[in-house]
Amino acid sequence: MSEIISSLRNDHRNITKLLTLLSEQNSRLACGEFTNYQTLADIMQYFINYPDIYHHPHEEQIFEILKIREKATTELINRVSSEHQQIAKNGTAILDEIKQIQGSAIFPRENFVRQLNNYIASYQAHMDIEEGYLFQVAEKLLGLEDWRHIDAAIKTVDDPIFGRILDQEYQSLFKAILAETVPEKTDY
Ligand SMILES: [Fe+2]
Repeated sequence: MSEIISSLRNDHRNITKLLTLLSEQNSRLACGEFTNYQTLADIMQYFINYPDIYHHPHEEQIFEILKIREKATTELINRVSSEHQQIAKNGTAILDEIKQIQGSAIFPRENFVRQLNNYIASYQAHMDIEEGYLFQVAEKLLGLEDWRHIDAAIKTVDDPIFGRILDQEYQSLFKAILAETVPEKTDY
């Protein structure tokens, strides 16, 4: 597997983890239970700071070449690219609303829950198309020179949560991720 694709798949696994956490918090909110808005805000901030700025443009580089190699992918790639823009736009709007809620603004809960559910479902469906089809076609049709070109064209940074060094900004979110994924210690 190309190293670039493998790294993008890894990003998807991390995004899925956070979408699951987001979905759990959103279910609590839907039932009127306690919701940790700071966790919601941290997740949305991460989506804006990392996948929107680095992961999606990285994929765009692959898709631009793929469109030339396989014309039949053009329509789907155009759709996926416009979804990248939509994800970024919706993510920013959601984070803005969370900040307003934290600042005691009144928001109709049902609307916010629906908005977040749509964001989660469409993000997951989007990644499923990339992984289930586009990445696979890219691996078949792109050659060594293409991957070198993509590698040279993109700026890579360490993931601020799942990379080598945890960014201070995400320390409490990281704890929340661990709490969801590590089983509680038992005495037997
Ligand atoms: Fe992706």
